[in-house]
Amino acid sequence: MAWVGSIQLKTTTLIFLLIHIHHCYGEYCSYLNGRTSVNKGDCTELEHCVSNFDQTGQCPGNQCEPGWMGPGCQYVNLALNPLNKDNVFDGDMTTHRSINAATVNLNGTFIVNAFIIHTRWFSGSLTVRDGHQNVLLQKSFQLVSPTIVLPRPVLTDILNMQFSYSIYIKEIEVFGGRDVALWKPTNQSSTYSEAIPNGMIKFSSDKAVDGSGDGNFGNLSCTHTATGHSKNPSWNVNLGKAYSIIAIKISNRNDNQKRINGFKLFGTTENGTKLPVYSDPLPYHNRNEIVLDSTHMPDVPVSVITIEGPNDTEKILTLCEVFVYGKIHKLS
Ligand SMILES: *[C@@H]1O[C@H](CO)[C@@H](O)[C@H](O)[C@H]1NC(C)=O
Ligand SMILES: *[C@@H]1O[C@H](CO)[C@@H](O)[C@H](O)[C@H]1NC(C)=O
Ligand SMILES: *[C@@H]1O[C@H](CO)[C@@H](O)[C@H](O)[C@H]1NC(C)=O
Ligand SMILES: *[C@@H]1O[C@H](CO)[C@@H](O)[C@H](O)[C@H]1NC(C)=O
Ligand SMILES: *[C@@H]1O[C@H](CO)[C@@H](O)[C@H](O)[C@H]1NC(C)=O
Repeated sequence: MAWVGSIQLKTTTLIFLLIHIHHCYGEYCSYLNGRTSVNKGDCTELEHCVSNFDQTGQCPGNQCEPGWMGPGCQYVNLALNPLNKDNVFDGDMTTHRSINAATVNLNGTFIVNAFIIHTRWFSGSLTVRDGHQNVLLQKSFQLVSPTIVLPRPVLTDILNMQFSYSIYIKEIEVFGGRDVALWKPTNQSSTYSEAIPNGMIKFSSDKAVDGSGDGNFGNLSCTHTATGHSKNPSWNVNLGKAYSIIAIKISNRNDNQKRINGFKLFGTTENGTKLPVYSDPLPYHNRNEIVLDSTHMPDVPVSVITIEGPNDTEKILTLCEVFVYGKIHKLS
């Protein structure tokens, strides 16, 4: 099968003049603007740091308020919701139970970054699986209250934890944020489709928010704009409401990886202002994914994310997943 997506880019020298204006964005900017812990009515994740942020925009010593964690206190405890009735999920460190397994219902699909297991003492091993029984972590501990940061954040709605034996647990906290782009309405400037023996495959815009970052183009989970267009391709996701964005991760294809090089990303505010968020400085290496951390994120909530393809000769935009991690409010 001849995927157009596999056509090699002809040798083309592209010289982009990038004028890099240093904008003040994200956590550090909020710190500079004195916006931390001042206005609870206009609450951002930054306001859950017990002190002020330091010069790098991090919460010193990660001393976040209870129920929050992360360098910017940007992750909320997702386990603290009424679906988890057990007293190891009640937000109360004075209640406890001896258990050897726990299932955490996140009530929705969230990105999970870390756990804290508050114990009196834990010496043994822990296995954490997602709802499909995929092993996310298998680790031994000899610690009081281990903090476990997943090597790779995962998108899931259920977590199953299995301890090597029954242990005394005061609380299990599961920290993460939501992929606010998941299954939201999308469009793109044009759509490539390909005839197959039994019909037609469309590489439609929704494939970048289907929850699968699979970079294998043949697995049909990536978008692809039509070929032979003279205009710059673009892709949009409408988040439905304005979110404060923590980070954006773009999963790239396994092949033709340089096609993403030089993309531009914009965020549209509720009043319709399209803010330039990121302009890719054309690296010369291939990337499986591109993570834009909070230092790149706009300081104001945005409701539409737009990605423009590189203005090269191909004029093709192909994306496997666009994960948009937005701040969520405390769930309790
Ligand atoms: C679960 O999430 C849905 C959608 O966000 C919400 O309406 C519902 O109240 C939540 N259920 C519980 C028990 O928190
Ligand atoms: C994706 O494609 C690869 C290579 O063809 C294959 O090994 C893998 O199982 C596929 N994944 C899914 C979810 O189909
Ligand atoms: C594509 O989506 C964007 C963002 O929701 C919207 O502004 C635009 O009108 C849409 N374009 C088309 C052709 O529907
Ligand atoms: C729209 O919102 C942005 C960001 O909050 C602000 O800078 C801009 O002045 C607003 N524009 C209008 C026309 O209100
Ligand atoms: C894209 O490149 C073409 C030349 O190939 C140029 O005419 C056009 O202005 C460029 N568009 C943008 C948005 O930079």
